[in-house]
Amino acid sequence: MLKTVKVRVPGTTANCGPGFDSVGIACTIYNSLELSVSEASGLTIEVSGEGAGAIPHSEKNIVWQAARAVFTKVGFVYGGIRIRMDNAIPLARGLGSSAAAIVGGLVAANSISGNQLTRQQLFELATEMEGHPDNVAPALFGGITLSTVAAGSEGASQAHHLRFLPPAPLSMIVAVPDFTLSTRASRQVLPQTVSLQDAVFNVGRTAILIGALCKGEFQHLQYALEDKLHQPYRQKLVPGMPEVFQAALANGALGAAISGAGPCLIAFAVSRETAIGDAMVAAFGRHQIKAGYHVLSIDPDGAKIIN
Ligand code: HSE
Repeated sequence: MLKTVKVRVPGTTANCGPGFDSVGIACTIYNSLELSVSEASGLTIEVSGEGAGAIPHSEKNIVWQAARAVFTKVGFVYGGIRIRMDNAIPLARGLGSSAAAIVGGLVAANSISGNQLTRQQLFELATEMEGHPDNVAPALFGGITLSTVAAGSEGASQAHHLRFLPPAPLSMIVAVPDFTLSTRASRQVLPQTVSLQDAVFNVGRTAILIGALCKGEFQHLQYALEDKLHQPYRQKLVPGMPEVFQAALANGALGAAISGAGPCLIAFAVSRETAIGDAMVAAFGRHQIKAGYHVLSIDPDGAKIIN
């Protein structure tokens, strides 16, 4: 092998209730990937862990597509490519598996080709590939991120982000049901227009949510995680959602939301994490849905070279 680089990328939870397509948090659950370039030819992809049977081993592989985008942009000439993925982030569940694949491919390829692109350029590329910035921003930068796409100086759109860490620890209990839901299917149920009343409802909650996370005033989370832009429409795609939220709150959670586009449901807490996770799983069970859970905290680093 001529060159090898290994990258660790966190899973992410997007939206966090009202912050649709904008708020995201990097979580302490990781995929690792190794990218090697050699003088030989051909593409070899090995996958272990989550999604091992489902992730394409062909040119369609997202890690490869992201890596190739970097190589093309910087004019890096490669021969043979080997990608080894070891995944802990469940696939198509709302924990940012596609963002992790994109960001992992970009960061690995950028490193192997001499770090010619800045993190901001990688963020732009990742946002373009993913279609929205809220998962790729925390996967790349770590922490809690606020992101949006706005018109740049020459009219082209530009991705922007702010990153911060709350001043106190915050746990995230993620209940993972045993079915997948594609982001595309989960976006198809959303309306094209919303009422001013619903928009104002979300603006107020998002403002308080960010302030509460910045200041560590987590007592505001219960109402600050409420949403009227996507969760009410997605409820039918996640059986038992209100009961799982209720079970989390009854067992000490500060608040709960759909993780990204679902179907994972996430509760935020500062204690009683196991009781909350058990209660969420039991509530899914009452709707004939098998589930497990992870107790996660905020990953501060984002995508990181580990070799
Ligand atoms: N903001 C996105 C959504 C996250 O809710 O559809 C999923 O990638």
